[in-house]
Amino acid sequence: MMWFRDNHPPEGTIYKPLLTVPKAVHPVEDIRGSTSKRLDGRTIVLGVTGSIAAVECVHLARELARNGARVIATMTEAATRILHPDAMWFATGEPPILRLTGDVEHVRWMGDRKDRADLLLVAPATANTIGKMANAIDDTPVTTFAATALGTGVPVLVAPAMHGSMWRHEGVLRNIQRLEELGVDIVRPREEEKKAKLADMETIVAHCARALAPDGPLLGKRVVIIAGSTEEPVDRVRLISNRSSGGLGRALAEEAFIRGADVTTLLGRHEVPQPPYIEGIPFTNVDSLIRASEHVPKDTASILCVAAIADYRTKAPMRGKISSGMEKLELSLEPAPKVLPILRSMAPDATLVGFKLEVGLSDDQLAEVARSRLGSGVEDLVVANDLARVTPEDHPAIIIAMKGEPTAFAGPKSDLAAAIFDAVEAARG
Ligand SMILES: Cc1cc2nc3c(=O)[nH]c(=O)nc-3n(C[C@H](O)[C@H](O)[C@H](O)COP(=O)(O)O)c2cc1C
Repeated sequence: MMWFRDNHPPEGTIYKPLLTVPKAVHPVEDIRGSTSKRLDGRTIVLGVTGSIAAVECVHLARELARNGARVIATMTEAATRILHPDAMWFATGEPPILRLTGDVEHVRWMGDRKDRADLLLVAPATANTIGKMANAIDDTPVTTFAATALGTGVPVLVAPAMHGSMWRHEGVLRNIQRLEELGVDIVRPREEEKKAKLADMETIVAHCARALAPDGPLLGKRVVIIAGSTEEPVDRVRLISNRSSGGLGRALAEEAFIRGADVTTLLGRHEVPQPPYIEGIPFTNVDSLIRASEHVPKDTASILCVAAIADYRTKAPMRGKISSGMEKLELSLEPAPKVLPILRSMAPDATLVGFKLEVGLSDDQLAEVARSRLGSGVEDLVVANDLARVTPEDHPAIIIAMKGEPTAFAGPKSDLAAAIFDAVEAARG
């Protein structure tokens, strides 16, 4: 509401309303939640310190917003010499906090209050700031936010960035260890070109979502995902494979990570890039997948076998190349060995999830297929889906557990992954 002084006010009137100006919508609202709702309703304070990687903070703040977060930036003086505060204002839609004032901004956002922020993310974190945080020194806005957060129990994430020589300094490594002992999660840097570079945006966003997720039954548990497709050789050049993209495997790995699991992916041929923060063990054909499966640890809580594994393979692949120009070529195929029973024997107590892909079936028919798969007694849960109905935006499926009725799901892969892990958690009791 704006008021102005009237030139000729009636007796007794000093002010009158002129016009109501709606609060300007900042351009950050155009992108908020456009990638996912993972950080929806969450407020993240982004503490920017004086590493050259501060130049990436515009991108980082926008990625956090794209995943739904409200971002408030606070910057050290050294950071403002690398990145202008206006850039962070633009990126977040809020003026960055450059010094603490009588408004006690550190208490406002990190104190014992209901409306405080949900997370402090220090990214990039210099060796200097890490050292101060580890020793409860707070002489910059970022370190004062950190000291307050560690005192009140606001989750703190630190993403270091520095030259490799500093990262190898025993004192810096001791400070990192000290931070971990204080309950700080470290987003490990990428060690490249003699530098400890700031982790990529995707990894930092995933760590934020993991830090903010409620504690659930998969927290700290081992989850193995088998994704992608097998490649069975025909000769030295050609192979038999399938259209599995690895897209659902990726969504499952992301979801398990956010739920706090210790995730490993056994990964065949795939088109969709997999999360950089998940360990991937490659396989090519069924034999190599079997060899990898034999290392699945006994204490694995859940195995999700979403890979498209060959049912048939060439009996004897040619050593050289089958020559072209033949009038007719017949390939002799044999059934490939089954992988699921091997996975079951490696981790007998794991919740084993199988996937069945069909083409052109109704929901009832899919449920029937899933039910008969469960009947074999190897899997605890089966997800049946119909390729004809899968689109980039929508991945309908039927989820059925050993005990229970089939559930029909419709929605994006990320939501299907969440529904599958809800079913896994329910099956584990
Ligand atoms: C261009 C430039 C780049 C820098 N990059 C880094 C860096 O990546 N990591 C780091 O630990 N220090 C880096 N420094 C040194 C820090 O800015 C310096 O230690 C400063 O005192 C950190 O203050 P702060 O932790 O309060 O932000 C850099 C300095 C300059 C001038």
